[in-house]
Amino acid sequence: MRYHIWTLGCQMNVADSQLLASELEKRGHHAAEDWEEADIWVINTCVVRQSAEDKAYGRLNELKHLKQRHPGKIIGLMGCLVGVRDPLRLRKQLPQVDVFLPPSDPAPMIDFLSQHSAEGEAIQAEAAARAERDALQDGELLLPQHERNALISAHVPVVYGCSFACSYCIIPFRRGIEHSRPVGEIVGHVRSLGRQGVKEITLLGQIVDRYGKDIPDGPTLADLLRVVHGVAEETGIERIRFLTSHPNWMTDRLLDTVAELPRVMPHIEVPNQAGDNEVLARMKRGYTIEQYIDLVGKIRDRIPEVAIHTDIIVGFSGETETQFQRTYDVLAQLRLDKAHIAKYSPRPNTLSARSMPDDVPADEKERRRKALDDLQAQVVAEINARWLGKTVPVLFEEQHRGKWRGRTPQNKLVFVDSSENLFGRVANVEITWTGPWSMQGRLPGRQSDPAPEVIEILPIASTQ
Ligand code: 5AD
Repeated sequence: MRYHIWTLGCQMNVADSQLLASELEKRGHHAAEDWEEADIWVINTCVVRQSAEDKAYGRLNELKHLKQRHPGKIIGLMGCLVGVRDPLRLRKQLPQVDVFLPPSDPAPMIDFLSQHSAEGEAIQAEAAARAERDALQDGELLLPQHERNALISAHVPVVYGCSFACSYCIIPFRRGIEHSRPVGEIVGHVRSLGRQGVKEITLLGQIVDRYGKDIPDGPTLADLLRVVHGVAEETGIERIRFLTSHPNWMTDRLLDTVAELPRVMPHIEVPNQAGDNEVLARMKRGYTIEQYIDLVGKIRDRIPEVAIHTDIIVGFSGETETQFQRTYDVLAQLRLDKAHIAKYSPRPNTLSARSMPDDVPADEKERRRKALDDLQAQVVAEINARWLGKTVPVLFEEQHRGKWRGRTPQNKLVFVDSSENLFGRVANVEITWTGPWSMQGRLPGRQSDPAPEVIEILPIASTQ
């Protein structure tokens, strides 16, 4: 059968969709060229904010009408809308859905397909699946066909779930308790990706710097990075990143490990969420803004030329104008390389939704969001301008409107005009133009570009 997966939300969902695609292909199913042609439709969902949840329901509605016309289609609903705790609670409300898949778990779809396919087909598919499984070692992942030797950057979950309780956050309710993957399994996963042409991996966890905390005498993220670095050297993976970190678990040892290991990129994603201590306390973040500012200083001292990214929530319950202004001032002072700015959205069952009013009006939240976005655009334009004329190693991922598109170690987007095949290569690039969202450059020693055509890539609205 042919499948199509829509992936909404965070990088963890991207990884989960890839795992599902891999499991489907092991059993002889193929990605559809065109989603309308697919026999199996899966929506992998995000509910971190109401707007993300609305997107999932929008798609579900569309598929409901299509299913009335084509009753043979199989509809799967995956991810955080489903959740790990009570995956079937939506069954009555969504009769168009045939299969509910909790986050990171393709098994319900595989079981459904084996129960519903003709017996002979099922036996054949099982045999094929067994052969594939036997060929794969612990943790190894067979990329979906269209990604084999075609995907440069891939994600590797290392911590599932989250046991921390930020008062606004629904993730722990939907992804379940924190659970680190064993090192051996991660090694298998990374090695298999390297063998299939992947050049960059990003280790993922809701709080990735808590890696190993749930394993008695377990390894730390620093230990894991060291092991993964060895696998990367063996298999030609050029770059390693990890996200998202929580300020309270960013140890000196972790920072020193990042600085020491050449394939681990100088790129840290560590959200502060707010710049005011009272707001941080109500968010239950577990640190003060002074501690966060110190941490940023320490990261910069220990990791040369590091890029630091943050997440901010504006319009949290009770956030006054003065408190918002503190967040603004902190961002202006810290000059971070990227800030994902989100408007507070109360989520079911969270502490803030249950006990704190959503009392900042919608237009005020929007004003605050825009103020921070404008500030960041200016700050990042200035930060990026410092790269002008410098030569930086860029890992190229794909061609985009006739230009090669790649990223610097700091994860900044760079476009280069070149007739050479740069796919999957790290090449030194001289930066010739910079803007807040992207840069342009040329390969040194080549003819200079004609007058630079300005490409502005809009920041991708983070729905993670
Ligand atoms: N409302 C708005 N933003 C949220 N985030 C998490 N929960 C909410 C919410 N209820 C944001 C945080 C987090 C990012 C993934 O999403 O900034 O870091």
